Amino acid sequence: MTWTPVKGADALSPDGGVMAVTIDNVAVALYRFGEDYLATGNICTHQYALLSDGFVENGCVECPLHQAVFDVRTGKALSGPVSKDLETYAVKVEDGQVFVDVT
Ligand code: FES
Repeated sequence: MTWTPVKGADALSPDGGVMAVTIDNVAVALYRFGEDYLATGNICTHQYALLSDGFVENGCVECPLHQAVFDVRTGKALSGPVSKDLETYAVKVEDGQVFVDVT
């Protein structure tokens, strides 16, 4: 595994905050739910839209373009014009620093 530190992750709102991060040329959306951090691909599997610009609620993210909804924890496409799930990536927190692994 290759853990990459993400600067500024601790500034995310604990109530569904989301930020865009690029790690090794992979577009990642990093989410915060309380003290839990989760990561998915940041590009919608329907067309080109950044999920980090979307609406996060109840552990799901809604695409800002055509309102597809994905489960952030599993990446599963739940509704909308999509059938392909999102990639999910491992996240860990050590000494307050958030790391993501996209390998
Ligand atoms: Fe996301 Fe169409 S681009 S639902």
